[in-house]
This record gives sequence, structure tokens and C-alpha cells, in this order.
Amino acid sequence: MSGPADRAIGVFDSGVGGLTVVRALRRELPGEHIVYLGDTARVPYGSKSPSTVLRYSLQNARFLLARGIKQLVIAFNTASAAALPDLEGALPVPVLGAVAPGAAEAVAATRTGRIGVIGTLGTVRSSSYRRALAALRPDVQAAAVACPLFVPLAEEGWTEGDVPRQVALRYLGELFAALEDIDTIVLGCTHYPLLQPLLQQVAHDLTGRTVRLVDSAGAMARATRAELAARGALREGTGGTLECFVTDAARIDEVGPRFLGEPLGPVAQVDI
Ligand code: DGL
Repeated sequence: MSGPADRAIGVFDSGVGGLTVVRALRRELPGEHIVYLGDTARVPYGSKSPSTVLRYSLQNARFLLARGIKQLVIAFNTASAAALPDLEGALPVPVLGAVAPGAAEAVAATRTGRIGVIGTLGTVRSSSYRRALAALRPDVQAAAVACPLFVPLAEEGWTEGDVPRQVALRYLGELFAALEDIDTIVLGCTHYPLLQPLLQQVAHDLTGRTVRLVDSAGAMARATRAELAARGALREGTGGTLECFVTDAARIDEVGPRFLGEPLGPVAQVDI
């Protein structure tokens, strides 16, 4: 017999980046059914205005709600930064975004109290990480740098070698120049976990120290577990399924597995 806990977690993203969150969710919560929507026809959101990001996000959320989800996860930082309070107010299910979980892990990790944030232009302009960090620990100092070129590099699978290294040296160099003694960097974009080994190396080369990288995908998966457990809505055990929808299926079979870490299975193209 199926009960409320058997309903799926709905996850949406502007494209494929949110599949890193799905990957973390499947590892953390192997019993949960997941329905994923990637708005690949309208990606990227990172360079769009907050009102457009909110409008698209509401459309994505309604598509997932129609599938009877018990929880919504906004699996990317740009919409979490621009639309979370409005989505929370407008939707009948709990909504989890990317910013608060990543900020909480960064605050727990830092020793110097100096945190770097990297993300899309939209995420950095929103100052949402600065606010979330300050709310958790007012004495923390933060610097943020937009790294738009990391998104296409991750999608093309250019995660090592000279070209991404030069790009990372430039962006992280800017970050370390903006604030001294950064010991923790939040990867404030769901594309960035693919670049994690390179970013770790470049951060070390620039500072001579090991800098802690906080992957917001893992933080979101742990926060989703806590949220579902608190409501008695956790589906324990294994056997969770994954259903994937995209608004444009071009290259999804090639690019998607880089982010999910496994083949996606059948993907349906939908018009929302
Ligand atoms: N992965 C998205 C994020 O975390 C960035 C992609 C986009 O610009 O839509 O914000």
C-alpha cells in the first residue's frame, strides 16, 4: 500500500546542473522517488532578470506539483536566490532552496571566519549568500565573484587541462584578492561540483593552503533528509526511482550523465 511518504520529491533546475543535486539526493535518500524537470529550452537563468527567473520557476514548480510531489527542491542557486520566498508563499508543498544549506555548511567549516562565494551573475548580484551567511554568523566576512564561464565548461566536459585552469586562476585570483584569509569557498552553482578537483588544486596553488570547498548539492541533500524526517515524510530503504523531464532534449543523453554520474534512463521532452 502506498502512503504520503511514497510521493515523489520534485526537483527543478534551469537545465542539467541540478542533476548534481539529484545525484546527491539519490546517494543520501536511496528510497525516495524523484521527478526532475530541467528547463533546457530556456537555460541559462543565471544572466536573466529576477522577475523572469521567478516567472519561469513558477511554471516549473506547477508542472511538478501536477505530478503530486510531497516536497519541492529548487536545485540551482540562481532561482533559489531570486525566487525562494515567492515560491514558498505560492506553493502548497514545502520548498527547499540551495542557498541556506550551503551557507550553513560554510559557516560550520570556516576557521578564519572568511568565506568566498562563487556563482552565476544572478546569484552573486542577489547578495543572497552574503545575507544568509550574515544571518547565521554576523562576524563572518564574505566575498563573492561571478564565474559565468564555468557553466559551459562543465557542460562541455572541459573540467581539466589548460583552458579551465586559466579561467579558474582568473576567477579565484579575483576572489582571493577581494578578501584575505579565505579558508572556505561555497560552490554556489550546481554546475561547479564537476570542476571541484580543478578548483581545489587552483585554490591551493594560489594560496599555498588547502581551502575547503562546500558543495551545495551535498548540503541540499542532507537538508532535504532533515526536512522530510521532521515531517515524518521520509521514504526509508532503497528502491527510489528517477523520472526525468526536459523542455528541450537536444544533447541531454550526452551531457546529462556527466552531471548525474550515471545514465539518465528515458527522458521525456515536455512543453510547460
Ligand atoms: N546551475 C545553475 C545555478 O546553480 C546555473 C545555470 C544557469 O545559469 O541557469 O545557478
